[in-house]
Amino acid sequence: MDELRWAEEVAEKITTKMRAVAERNRHKIPFKAVNGVYGDLAERNICWWTNGFWGGIMWQMYNATKDDLYREIALEVEKKLDKNLMDARKLDHDNGFKWLPTAVANYKLTGDDDGFNRGLLAACNLAGRFNPAGNFIRAWNGEKSAGTAIIDCMMNLPLLYWAYEVNGDPKFLQMATAHANTVKQYFVREDGSVNHIVRFDAVTGEHLEDVGGQGYAKGSSWTRGQSWALYGFVMSYIHTGDLSYLNTAKKVANYFIANIPENNLIPVDFKQPEDITWEDSSATVVAACGMLEIERQLKKLGELEQNESKVYHRAAMRLLTTLERERCNWDTNMDQIVEKCTTEYHGNDWEHTLVYADYYFIEAIWKLTGRELYIW
Ligand code: GLY
Repeated sequence: MDELRWAEEVAEKITTKMRAVAERNRHKIPFKAVNGVYGDLAERNICWWTNGFWGGIMWQMYNATKDDLYREIALEVEKKLDKNLMDARKLDHDNGFKWLPTAVANYKLTGDDDGFNRGLLAACNLAGRFNPAGNFIRAWNGEKSAGTAIIDCMMNLPLLYWAYEVNGDPKFLQMATAHANTVKQYFVREDGSVNHIVRFDAVTGEHLEDVGGQGYAKGSSWTRGQSWALYGFVMSYIHTGDLSYLNTAKKVANYFIANIPENNLIPVDFKQPEDITWEDSSATVVAACGMLEIERQLKKLGELEQNESKVYHRAAMRLLTTLERERCNWDTNMDQIVEKCTTEYHGNDWEHTLVYADYYFIEAIWKLTGRELYIW
């Protein structure tokens, strides 16, 4: 297969489909499509953690096409999120997911001052969640959550790295790396799989317990969590040059690759019972992005790493080509692209669509075709 040709063909399909999807959903902030129609979750909960991804899709499309429709929608999303930025009780570790693909992407592409300010305010709030006794960033709000950290937060650290890069204050860098080091120690297991949630004593910082979270069970292997970890650690490597982060990303990726089923379709949890077939395509696309980024970083290091990088490229291509063939919807009258995503194993809704799966699918195809705006 000519991989570049394949990726270009998929990029064309994305470009055709997203123009129609953006046009008819221009005033929404979608979370998922039901029967092919995006809802508008922002009307119910503007503080939901996924609300940055629609803006992120718009900036990725704008970067690739320079079509003003996308820029206008992205700016509308960014402004709507101010309601969340002014609601301190609803800010959490996911500030990066909300303001990197919106405000910071805007600033990176256009130099917009409002984007800069929103990004920095969100970063300062994220820094305020750092617990110096345990060296972790607190996940959620509420008294009982003071000592809780989650793997997803690895994807939010780039907001702190960005703050350090634009204003030079090393505390942002120190907090991000301290958190990443804690995750390396307490989340990443010997075999390369990761915990979703870890609880610490918020006063002493002592490690208390690992929790199953959105996966099948305590000690299991929630696939989206594995993918947040593998992509998140590459991001920490990109911003710091610390090889231990790249090696951790490789370790998690190697575990992920070893567990890809024969059909290349990723389950919700690598350790779910054999008779449960629920898939999570969102884990597939995040992992593929992370593997392509590992490949890109290894290629910069030397001949041996360049050879090694092929492992990650091949795995990403296996995942993406299967997903495109079997789980992508190219009907321009339907809003979603990626299908069969699952939010959590013990929820009440499996194998639906999710806006962030579409975001990471587009990002992966953009990485392969040189269209990407790197927003992390
Ligand atoms: N908790 C974020 C996620 O569902 O991945």
